[in-house]
Amino acid sequence: MSDTQLPYTKPNIDWAEIERWDRAYYLHNTQAQAEYVFTGIEGADGNYLYTATGDKLLDFQSQLVSDNMGHRHPRVHAEIKRAMERFGHVFFGFATDYRARAAKLVIDDILGADSWAGRVRILSSGSEAVENAMTMARLYANKPLILTQERSYHGLVPGATQVAGYRGNLSTGPETDDNRDVPGFPGSGFVAIPAPEFSDWQGTGRLPSLDRTEQIIREVGAHKIAGIITETMFGGASYMPHHSYLKGLHDLCRQYGILWILDDVLCGFGRLGEWFSYQIEPGITPDLMALGKGINGCALPVGAVVASNEIAEFIDRARWWSGSTHDAHPLVCASIVGNLEAMIEDGMIDKARVRGAQLKERLDALMAKHPCIGRISGRGIYYTIDLVTPNGDPIIAADRDTLFQGDLSGHPNNIFAAACGARGLFAGGFMPNTVKAAPPLTITEAEVDFAVGVMDEAFSAVEKVYH
Ligand SMILES: Cc1ncc(COP(=O)(O)O)c(C=O)c1O
Repeated sequence: MSDTQLPYTKPNIDWAEIERWDRAYYLHNTQAQAEYVFTGIEGADGNYLYTATGDKLLDFQSQLVSDNMGHRHPRVHAEIKRAMERFGHVFFGFATDYRARAAKLVIDDILGADSWAGRVRILSSGSEAVENAMTMARLYANKPLILTQERSYHGLVPGATQVAGYRGNLSTGPETDDNRDVPGFPGSGFVAIPAPEFSDWQGTGRLPSLDRTEQIIREVGAHKIAGIITETMFGGASYMPHHSYLKGLHDLCRQYGILWILDDVLCGFGRLGEWFSYQIEPGITPDLMALGKGINGCALPVGAVVASNEIAEFIDRARWWSGSTHDAHPLVCASIVGNLEAMIEDGMIDKARVRGAQLKERLDALMAKHPCIGRISGRGIYYTIDLVTPNGDPIIAADRDTLFQGDLSGHPNNIFAAACGARGLFAGGFMPNTVKAAPPLTITEAEVDFAVGVMDEAFSAVEKVYH
């Protein structure tokens, strides 16, 4: 593509040298050095990535289902630039207008109608949001254990609190003399519950996963369980559970007096066609909610945790010895303000629903055509597609695993991703048998049609090898 067609001024970069340095010094994710594929990205703008080799890729995965408003959204960038005129960093002991505005947008403007949310804290990553939510659950409930779903994904950062002498306990405040160490330390403090059934589970009655979860609650003892942490649509494991799961799990939490910690890092801010994923089910609300990604579309590293009115009031009365150097960083708060104001004014949730419906319709048509598509699950503007053998079994028998040996380039997800990439589309998935369709909420009708056309050919490429 010619330099004049680029949405940015072409930088003068020696990509051969960059590749050498990247290969030599960076600690890469998910690939061994021997198989590492270097793909230089020179720029990103709107719904597109621009590669070092001059290709333009439609980002149909929003990076990590994260860059929900596309790349370099003008409203977000304008707000960051304005903030940079006044701020570098200030620590959480000081207040900024951006921190207050970001908190008001989340708690009042967006969550106000549901009236459960009391306060939000702004952090640097979704993982940190999850960690904070679990500590708050333990402190509030004064119980040590967290129940967690098999196949769930909540981040990859074990241990900072476990190894610390200072671990986020509560000390007596002006209104309470209830000193409280964090229950469950030291020790893992986690108990696994089964992963939910797939969306096309055909049985009758209550889901077996919920029956087993209730059994586990009884075996372990509800008096020891602070909370259950859940994903709504599973990001790592790549599926939307059966429609009766979410409400069933919520009801178990209420029945046994266990806090519901909703990890909405991935699904929050419009992914499932609602602001937050619990809203797909009328009448249920969480006690704690971990957020990230979509809150600013990843213009800067971000996370956030929302506490219910009751939990926020409890913490308000004491002194919670918590915080990170980067909490409520002014530039991050500015990016949240720019992003959420743009999302509200541009009606992005409605747009996600409309564009998502178009996407689902097109994907269903592909399923009718391609025998390698065994299942499509999802909602809003987030779908995952399971790739199967002619018999309908997962192509790679160890379905939804991450422990494999040998060359993975022949895995169906990688064949699909390579076929898409060669045709100008960034799409694929981490699990061998699943690929994602999770474009930015800003995707256009024509771009969805283009992407589905490319996916059509990519599914044929998978069938050529496995059917
Ligand atoms: C559901 C969920 N929780 C937590 C995280 C961790 O967030 P981060 O990568 O920002 O630390 C992710 C990231 O993909 C996620 O999908």
